[in-house]
Amino acid sequence: MSKILTVAILGCGSRGADSYGKIINNDSRFKITALCDIRKEKVDRFQIEFNVKKENCFLNENDFFKAKLADVLVIGTQDKDHVRHCLKALELGYDILLEKPITPVLEECYQLLEAQKKYGGRVIVCHVLRYAPAFVGLDNLLQSGVIGRLIHIHAMEQVAYWHYCHSYVRGNWRRSEDTSPMIMAKCCHDLDLIQHYAGSKSKAISSYGQLNFFKKENAPEGCSDRCSTCIHKDTCLYSAYRLYVQRWKDYGSLPDVWPQNVITSDVPLTEEKIIKAIETTPYGRCVFHSDNNVVDTQTTNILFENGVTANLLMTAYTKDVGRHYIFLGTEGEIDFDEIANKLTIRRFGGEDEVIPFKNLADVNGGHGGGDNGIIEDVYNVFALGQEPKTSLAESLESHIIGIKAEEERLKFN
Ligand SMILES: NC(=O)c1ccc[n+]([C@@H]2O[C@H](COP(=O)([O-])OP(=O)(O)OC[C@H]3O[C@@H](n4cnc5c(N)ncnc54)[C@H](O)[C@@H]3O)[C@@H](O)[C@H]2O)c1
Repeated sequence: MSKILTVAILGCGSRGADSYGKIINNDSRFKITALCDIRKEKVDRFQIEFNVKKENCFLNENDFFKAKLADVLVIGTQDKDHVRHCLKALELGYDILLEKPITPVLEECYQLLEAQKKYGGRVIVCHVLRYAPAFVGLDNLLQSGVIGRLIHIHAMEQVAYWHYCHSYVRGNWRRSEDTSPMIMAKCCHDLDLIQHYAGSKSKAISSYGQLNFFKKENAPEGCSDRCSTCIHKDTCLYSAYRLYVQRWKDYGSLPDVWPQNVITSDVPLTEEKIIKAIETTPYGRCVFHSDNNVVDTQTTNILFENGVTANLLMTAYTKDVGRHYIFLGTEGEIDFDEIANKLTIRRFGGEDEVIPFKNLADVNGGHGGGDNGIIEDVYNVFALGQEPKTSLAESLESHIIGIKAEEERLKFN
């Protein structure tokens, strides 16, 4: 019989419990044995859903960290808490699944590496796209040499205006002081993938970007600081009613769906519950009157030690969410387009080959199958002793790029 891996979850929010917790709870090789969140409604809900003993459910991290309560700890708390929680967990002897970004402070990355060496626990960082079948398929193609030697990566991270307004104007990642700079919060996966595909450490970085639009001086005449009291609420492109109620209806009025299940924990969702959240929570704020300061567009250039170059554009100003990466090689190009849902190989002097994503691999679950893939790795690494794809040391390289990019951007801001 295979080993049952016991799991504790610290931070039972969208990632910790709703994503990883649900996958783990449905897999008989795991057993969730402890929970901790400062929000009582989260602990109460998942204590029942995951069938966890009440005495192992905590509302306070100090009580939770008094003893080791499982083999593995999932850390799904906010960016600024990751290092503190990871250090405490390593000291107790946990193996850890740690949400990204690790930290926007380089010294803290090294501090965690030291602690890992000292206490011996292993850490997998949640670069979930490295486990997503389409990105793995892309990696295999690049490794196969289908476009010859890789020369340049041209990458666009299309955040989409509605997702940007939710997370980066009204939501948790709107202020760099409280969370991470946008390049770390949103492009952590891009930097990890680009560095992995380039296959080398970075040598030089430049970066530019700013918050262009979602600020007071761009507010329409007569607008209020909340959508519920605004004269423009039916016409404004960024109105919370349009982004939460209308989009929820347009996409099938599902009972438990992101991002509506972020603005209210009261599921199953109804129109009334969503409207109540708009009227009472920060998610009903006017996008021009929030306290946000993170950039809406940032462009970063990277030179790698092996000569490969890359540029990454992250922007709020797209209709849809998706990554568009173009790889230029000595014998052809690969065009990887998430929104078009296909990958095109353009061999020099040959026919183009179009591969729909579904042919690269079956895609199931969040992050194009990456959430399921990383939980598979949790079992393979922590129960079977395999090497993780996205260890702390491996993730350090992309964090160095993000941290340097932000330093460079701030020089011109
Ligand atoms: N891997 C990915 O693709 C991906 C995607 C989105 C977010 N993230 C990262 O995941 C992390 C969590 O994001 P989320 O969207 O789940 O946020 P969330 O707000 O839904 O969840 C965080 C939870 O932590 C709880 N919490 C806060 N402080 C706590 C403390 N001291 N002790 C215990 N619980 C505490 C909150 O109450 C909340 O329930 C963030 O670091 C974010 O950057 C990663």
